[in-house]
Amino acid sequence: MSIAFAQDAVSAQAAALQADALAGLSGAQKTLPCKWLYDSEGSRLFEAITRLPEYYPTRTEMRILEESGGEIAEAIGTGAAVIEFGPGDGAKAVQLLGALEAPAAYLPVDIAPEWLEAAAARVSAAFPALRVRPVVADFTLPFELAGRAAGSRTHLGFFPGSTIGNFEPRDAVAFLRRARASLRPGARMLLGADLVKDTAVLEAAYDDAAGVTAAFDLNLLSRLNREAGADFDLGAFRHEARWNPELERIEMHLVAQRAQSVELGGRRFRFAAGESIHTESSHKYRPERLSALAASAGWQPRRMWTDPEALFSVWLLEA
Ligand code: TRP
Repeated sequence: MSIAFAQDAVSAQAAALQADALAGLSGAQKTLPCKWLYDSEGSRLFEAITRLPEYYPTRTEMRILEESGGEIAEAIGTGAAVIEFGPGDGAKAVQLLGALEAPAAYLPVDIAPEWLEAAAARVSAAFPALRVRPVVADFTLPFELAGRAAGSRTHLGFFPGSTIGNFEPRDAVAFLRRARASLRPGARMLLGADLVKDTAVLEAAYDDAAGVTAAFDLNLLSRLNREAGADFDLGAFRHEARWNPELERIEMHLVAQRAQSVELGGRRFRFAAGESIHTESSHKYRPERLSALAASAGWQPRRMWTDPEALFSVWLLEA
């Protein structure tokens, strides 16, 4: 029974991947939804990205949490339950919880149980007495914290990594509104947002010399070949990171190196030479724009911390 169930889950996932790919490749600008980048190989490559010399966001945000930890803790006060949206490996939570005064609980929220377990284990190892309660949920949808943060004085949402930038601005507002609804009235939110900066620095962060980000992006095509019956020639596409100055975002594209056609799900998709598939966007914010975006979702910006070079920002918002 359990084997049959597992196979159903796998084929349901393959069907959803194929349906998304058919829809995405049918538009004038071909796209593929970025959530499919994170299979186990994609997640492994993403971890490697966070350690690349060109990829400044992870270490810069960590440094802000280290260096401004005292001020952050003072602004938040004692007894907060920390609810983290997409905890990754839990390293940033360990940094934050270590700075806070007597945190009441840690609740990582993620759709992927394996990420949750890893983050929860890391936090529990660092703070054996802390109440750790993982929540399996898609945090882009409303979810119920129920009694899991009972006994805490306040709720502190934690959304690091500039994941907010991977939403279209309109979806970022919707996400922040829903997060406010999932948390207790008067909750605060600690939000990491990458800042607009020199184009060369941005493009290098998303197209590193060692080719790790390119491998991460191209993995999407191997995944379509493996799981959705596509026949992409991986050597015929090249990864490109483009700064879009109007929308102030880095776009990742897979660019066809020659005219070709690809088969997927019994359909044929033509590519002109130079035509691209848009795979992900990472919006960069100017402080005034981020604070307007938060305000339009019902969050008042209270404080903002940055690094000496103003590469990255960490915000304290209040519902
Ligand atoms: N949110 C981070 C960013 O936009 C991490 C990230 C998401 C990322 N997707 C990515 C990094 C793709 C590199 C490539 O920077």
